[in-house]
Amino acid sequence: MAFRNLEDAELKGKRALVRVDFNVPMENGKVADDTRLRAALPTIHFLSSRGAKVILIAHFDRPKGKRVAEMSLKPIVEPLSKLLEQPVTFADDCIGPEARKAVNSLEPGGVALLENLRFHAGEEANEREFIDALASNGDLFVNDAFSAAHRAHASTEGLAKRLPAYPGLSMQLELEALDSALGHPERPVIGIVGGSKVSTKLDLLKNLVTRLDKLAIGGGMANTFLYAQGHDVGASYCEKDLAETAREIVRLAGRNKCKLFLPLDIVVADRLGPGVASRVRGLGEVDDDERILDAGPETIARLKRAMENSKTLVWNGPLGVFETPPFDAGTNEAARHAGKLALEDKLVAVAGGGDTVAALHHAGVASQFTFVSTAGGAFLEWMEGKDLPGVSVLKV
Ligand code: 3PG
Repeated sequence: MAFRNLEDAELKGKRALVRVDFNVPMENGKVADDTRLRAALPTIHFLSSRGAKVILIAHFDRPKGKRVAEMSLKPIVEPLSKLLEQPVTFADDCIGPEARKAVNSLEPGGVALLENLRFHAGEEANEREFIDALASNGDLFVNDAFSAAHRAHASTEGLAKRLPAYPGLSMQLELEALDSALGHPERPVIGIVGGSKVSTKLDLLKNLVTRLDKLAIGGGMANTFLYAQGHDVGASYCEKDLAETAREIVRLAGRNKCKLFLPLDIVVADRLGPGVASRVRGLGEVDDDERILDAGPETIARLKRAMENSKTLVWNGPLGVFETPPFDAGTNEAARHAGKLALEDKLVAVAGGGDTVAALHHAGVASQFTFVSTAGGAFLEWMEGKDLPGVSVLKV
C-alpha cells in the first residue's frame, strides 16, 4: 500500500485539517476514557512543531444531522489541552463563520477543535457542498481516525479527494500493524475469534478461514459450533438456527486448509454470577440445566501450544464470560501466554475490538501485545476483508 508521507509535506503556516476520532466514552459530561485523545497526540505534535495550523475535526455519537447539546465536542477541549500542554481553541460549528473565525485566529503551531461534524447531515451523506465548506478551511487533509475509516463520510472520504491527503501517525501505525497480522503476516498465523454471537461474525469467520493457517473459536459462539457437531450444550447460549452455517464454515476451513480449533472441554455452571460454583466438563457431558461459560483447561493448553507453534496471532473476542470471574480464567490464561510470547519476540500478537481490548486490560497484558487496536466496527470490517473507504481513498 502506498500512501503520501507527512514527512514530505510542506507544513509551515499551512492549515492542516485533521480528522481524529474523539468518539470517546463520556460520563456526566466528562471524558471517561482518554485513550483516543492520547492516540491523536503524536500527529498533533508533529504538525504543530513544524508550524502548521492544526484544525481538528471529529464526530461524537450519532446526532443524525441535528444539533444535540449533549453531543457537543466541547467537553473534549479541557482534557485535550491538558494533554497537549497548550490551549485549544473551540469553534461552535465545523463550517461557516464560526469555524472560519477560529481558523483565522490560529498562529502557526496553534490547535483548534471544530464542533461535531455530524450536526450537519452533509457529513454522513458525503455531500459536495459540505465537503467544499470544510475544505475551505484547509490546505491539506490528514486522516488519523482509523476507527472511523469504515465510514464513507465527508470527513473520512470526501475531503481526501478534495485536498492533498495524508494518513496521520496513528493511522500509519495501525495500518502497518494490521498489515503484519493479516496482509503480509509471518506464517503460520493463528486467529482467535470469540464473543457470543456467530450471527454478528459470519463474514469475519468466512474470511479468516481462507486467510489463516489455524483458527480457534471460543466464547458463546463456540456453543453453536459444538451443537452443530452434535454435542449437547444444555442451557447454554446457542444460535441453533445457525447450525448449518457453522457446518458450512467448518467445511470452508477444511477446503482452505485452515485448522479449526473448537473447544475440547468446557467450564459449566448452573447460573452466571461472580464466584458461583463451576465444573469442568468434557464434550457431551453437559447437563440440561448447565450453561457453558468458559473454555476448559485442555482447550487452553492446546491453544497455548498452537500459539507457540505460530509466528503471528490475530485476536478478536473473549473465550468466556471474562467480565464475571471465575469465567475469566480461560481468556486470562490465553491472553497472558500471548503477551509473554510477544514480549519474548516469538509472536506478533495483534488484537482489536471493544470487548477484546477490555479483556486484555482485565488480564493485565494489553501493553505486552504487539498492537492493540481501539477501533470497533472498523477493526471488524478489516477482519472481514472489506474495503475501508477512509483508507482506500488515501492510497496514491
Ligand atoms: C467508533 O466509535 O467505532 C467510531 O467512532 C465510529 O462510530 P460510528 O459507529 O458512530 O460511525
